Amino acid sequence: MNTALYCVIGNPVEHSRSPWIHARFAQLTGQPIEYGRRLAQLDGFAQSLRALRAQDDGRARGCNVTVPFKFEAAQLAQRLSARAQLAQAANTLRFDTDGIYGDNTDGIGLVNDITAHAGIALAGRDVLLIGAGGAAAGALGPLLEAGARRVVIANRTPQKAAALAQRHAALAQMRQVQLQAQPLDGITGAFAIVINATAASLCGAAIPVRADVLAPGALALDMMYGPAAHGFMTWAREHGAAPRDGLGMLVEQAAQSFLLWRGVRPPTAQVLSELRAIVG
Ligand code: ATR
Repeated sequence: MNTALYCVIGNPVEHSRSPWIHARFAQLTGQPIEYGRRLAQLDGFAQSLRALRAQDDGRARGCNVTVPFKFEAAQLAQRLSARAQLAQAANTLRFDTDGIYGDNTDGIGLVNDITAHAGIALAGRDVLLIGAGGAAAGALGPLLEAGARRVVIANRTPQKAAALAQRHAALAQMRQVQLQAQPLDGITGAFAIVINATAASLCGAAIPVRADVLAPGALALDMMYGPAAHGFMTWAREHGAAPRDGLGMLVEQAAQSFLLWRGVRPPTAQVLSELRAIVG
């Protein structure tokens, strides 16, 4: 029997930490898998996916999908988890005998990092989610499921925040969470948890919100890590918040993908501390 193959597909993909994380998960759980990375052309995601599935007599059992293909991945899947349907984006595909199953583990990864590693309960909290792109879309459903009191989505393009809120309105109502879309310059209140899901720092732009959105001692989490997260984290520290990068989210979303593929939950705290030592 050939070793099961997985990979991450993206563009760019060379800096992805997923191969390292999944290799450690495989070692620590004794799961016999290989995990690689594939660069897809910007108009060639479907083709890369077909090539992966056709490789080595179907040795590939699934893949992670990263920027900018998460929306396309959701469209190509034959079946989607409820959270991937709401996000309209998939970061995890599993190749089943009856087709591709798509899931989105980004949001549950974020929630697990906040609760398990940062040690903060989401239940009853006020959360500000900045951004309404793929990263924010993946996060919103699990934030609502975790029982926040109020979630505000604020985005540079307000219509995108409104559409995201609209799509999640039924879930918010079911979970009794106040869900609102607000303009970046009109955010009301202060928040115990502020999440930056924008790509603002990548283009060297200023922090897109005023500092008074941070409640005293708030958790301020940037979904990015490394230099891309420094600006937001420094800003948060300067304004009395507790900064956190997206490394824990990265490990936790990978663990959920691994669980979906292998039925085994890997030890995330150990892998996160090892990765932190590497990334710095
Ligand atoms: P991702 O998959 O990483 O979320 P994306 O779907 O391109 O990437 O979304 C990027 C997010 O960052 C969007 O919310 C975007 O705002 P718009 O919807 O208005 O484009 C936000 N963003 C990017 N550059 C920004 C900037 N300079 N200031 C504020 N928000 C920015």
